[in-house]
Amino acid sequence: MYAKIRETASWLRQRMRTNPKTAIILGTGLGQLASEITDTYEFSYKDIPNFPVSTVEGHDGKLIFGKLGGKDIMAMKGRFHFYEGYSMKEVTFPERVMHELGIETLFVSNAAGGMNPNFSIGDLMVITDHINFFPEHPLHGPNLPTGPRFPDMHQPYDKKLVELADGIAKEKGIKLQHGVYVGVQGPTFETPAEYRMFHILGGDAVGMSTVPEVIVARHTGIKVFGVSIITDLGGFDVPVEVSHEEVQEAANAAQPKMTEIMREMISRS
Ligand code: HPA
Repeated sequence: MYAKIRETASWLRQRMRTNPKTAIILGTGLGQLASEITDTYEFSYKDIPNFPVSTVEGHDGKLIFGKLGGKDIMAMKGRFHFYEGYSMKEVTFPERVMHELGIETLFVSNAAGGMNPNFSIGDLMVITDHINFFPEHPLHGPNLPTGPRFPDMHQPYDKKLVELADGIAKEKGIKLQHGVYVGVQGPTFETPAEYRMFHILGGDAVGMSTVPEVIVARHTGIKVFGVSIITDLGGFDVPVEVSHEEVQEAANAAQPKMTEIMREMISRS
């Protein structure tokens, strides 16, 4: 496993013309941020040795290197979901490679269903904590030497980065919610009873990604900032139907404010 990670990192390093310390995972419908990256060069996942290949509609699989907010960055356009059939080791392979490449801060985004009654569709929710509901743990198995066997998780999402986001949002008049993200395997959206349950358990939003990536990033010491776009609502009075198209549409509509916050955060952090 570790040999494969190093092989992939070394393949990339031989081809990289920049030395990014910041990585971004662009989730569902957040492609607009990719178009703001300048001086780009990129690699399709299918061309990178040992990289899994993305399969979901609307997820373009490539690693983009370039500049954003005046900083060298690397961005993942398209991520790997457990529901696609990948193992947790495959889902989190890119974060392992990021660590080998010297990434220090990871910005993650996703689309999520809101369960907090104060949330509306299109809100941005800064992830302040998460609950791991995946059936398999990404650190299951022999421990890799990048971190301890029993990693501390008291601050999975960096508090200083949350404060920075709040400051930028205030300055720009963008409403930011805060909340706990529940990570589930999918691919079904939740039943009304499940949305209610996750809210009772302490969750504000639920989605099918992010948690494994954050766990592995933290295991390697990478700092994390995460934002969810609330694309649908569940668990209140009336059960509402949810579709992938609606999720993408709501995510697209929220893109401009998301892009602005991410760009500013990267330039100031
Ligand atoms: N549940 C799980 N994943 C999601 C949702 C949801 O309601 N919305 C977007 N991704």
